[in-house]
Amino acid sequence: MSIKIPPGVFDILPQDPKNEWKCSHLWQYVESTIRQICTEYGYQEIRTPLFERTELFQRSVGETTDIVSKEMYTFEDRGNRLMSLRPEGTAPVMRAFIENQLQNLSKNTKLFYIAPMFRYERQQAGRYRQHHQFGAEAIGNNSPEQDAELIDLIYSTYTRLGIQNMQVMISSLGDNEDRAKFRNALKTYLADYRDELSEESRERFEVNPLRILDSKNAKDQEIVENGPVILDYLSDEAKSHFDSVQENLTLIGIPYVVNPKIVRGLDYYNRTVFEITASELGAQNSIGGGGRYDGLIKSLGGPDLPSIGFGSGIERIIQTMLGQGVSFPEKHRPDLFLIPLGDAAKSYCFQQLKALRSAGVPTEMDFSGRKLNKVMQEANQIGAKHVLIIGDSEMEKKEAKLKEMESGNETLISLETIIQKLKEIS
Ligand code: HAM
Repeated sequence: MSIKIPPGVFDILPQDPKNEWKCSHLWQYVESTIRQICTEYGYQEIRTPLFERTELFQRSVGETTDIVSKEMYTFEDRGNRLMSLRPEGTAPVMRAFIENQLQNLSKNTKLFYIAPMFRYERQQAGRYRQHHQFGAEAIGNNSPEQDAELIDLIYSTYTRLGIQNMQVMISSLGDNEDRAKFRNALKTYLADYRDELSEESRERFEVNPLRILDSKNAKDQEIVENGPVILDYLSDEAKSHFDSVQENLTLIGIPYVVNPKIVRGLDYYNRTVFEITASELGAQNSIGGGGRYDGLIKSLGGPDLPSIGFGSGIERIIQTMLGQGVSFPEKHRPDLFLIPLGDAAKSYCFQQLKALRSAGVPTEMDFSGRKLNKVMQEANQIGAKHVLIIGDSEMEKKEAKLKEMESGNETLISLETIIQKLKEIS
């Protein structure tokens, strides 16, 4: 029996008629747009290893979070060290920042990444065990303009990709003391409803009560609706920061709503947090999210630098675009398909293939020597724009008919000027 792909992961293929979002040319387009816009916003690329010491995620994302307690792919390496495939990008980027002392190179470090992440998720639509994240992290600046710039980066990336009807939701988790006070108030309030909460929320009550706020369970939501609101617990400083983030978003025309139920599933956040949703995604409707994590670098042994970042699933970006009928650039098609008939023509065409490609004309050639109608079918299938059939008589006369596939029009061209001619029309 042949070996099948593991559950929860997928291949990205040149073509997939059933799942268009898995087609590699769509990924290439989205990724190149991301690279372009990040560069324009002054973010530079960082690439970290696929795996890190498990401790890194325990100390940053948090031991009680679902990601760390239930979803990590953890293994012991041959040197008996505990390692985990990265479930998210922020902690590895901070580890690399600290280790390479990137703060010495610039006061503000703005980084982005496009990388696979691994989470052992329950099988459901929109959640994969390997997903791909576009993320950005701005390190060293705690001004509200930095928060607004980063939210603008994710929003403008979606807009440039043609995504519409998104909802940007923002909130503030305040600083540590604010959150501690709120946590107590929330626990006191929820204690009266403990038995009515869903099983998952009852579990969270002790270890991570804030996560009950973003429960998807209807009864939990009803209970939480009348409970305390984090924004009422912000210190004056945290409140004025949050107000200023909102003013800056308004200043640059980014529509948003304040949603104090956003708590995010990772422990390192403080102050501004945000999520962007698109209805096309169904239950897993978050295309991207992030927030501030001012204490993280210090807690990992680095300098005391404030930071903010986001992550966005590329699967979800592409699915949203397709769901909204956004048109993607056409898949690459060769300008020319060479079809030799006979051995002399084969050698000649093979030389021309190299010369045409060196001259920048995307060209393919038939190596199979199959019947002409079969080869023409293949040229059609790969979307070749032109076909040149070269047999003995064409070699003798040093000219051949260039067929334009779409119109069927044929023009006679001299073999000596083939490169020049193709460059003109390609
Ligand atoms: P996160 O919310 O866990 O944040 O993930 C960010 C985004 O990755 C989600 O909004 C979603 O689009 C996508 N995503 C997450 N898990 C899956 C999955 N199993 N399948 C498909 N897509 C998924 C973080 O990871 C933070 N590191 C973001 C951040 C960066 N915060 C500050 N800097």
